[in-house]
Amino acid sequence: MGWGVSQDRVGNGLATEIGFAMMRLAFDRLRLHRVYAQCRVENAASCRIMTKLGMRQEGVLRENVLARGEWWSSVQCAILSSEWSG
Ligand SMILES: CC(C)(COP(=O)(O)OP(=O)(O)OC[C@H]1O[C@@H](n2cnc3c(N)ncnc32)[C@H](O)[C@@H]1OP(=O)(O)O)[C@@H](O)C(=O)NCCC(=O)NCCS
Repeated sequence: MGWGVSQDRVGNGLATEIGFAMMRLAFDRLRLHRVYAQCRVENAASCRIMTKLGMRQEGVLRENVLARGEWWSSVQCAILSSEWSG
């Protein structure tokens, strides 16, 4: 999963709300086993959101995204249904 918030609405907890809503959909309704998210290593806000959502870091994918003419590395975090407390 991923999240994006309008520039004029950042800093209000909206991306965290999006993440929790997606996890409720994934685990409570769809009964999925695992949800993961990736963000650019330098994206400290998204890394923080993954932590707030209870996701655990699984590793760094080195230069796995070619964007705006350069290679970006990504942090991958995930949460299992057994770790989701609702
Ligand atoms: C990144 C983005 C989703 C954040 O949205 P948001 O609604 O402001 O996020 P939230 O308010 O839910 O949470 C942000 C958290 O990161 C923290 N944070 C913000 N900037 C930070 C920084 N530079 N360093 C460390 N933490 C930071 C905030 O303090 C907050 O944590 P807290 O609740 O513990 O204080 C938004 O800026 C965005 O859409 N950016 C462009 C698209 C993008 O990068 N999407 C993610 C792709 S993986």
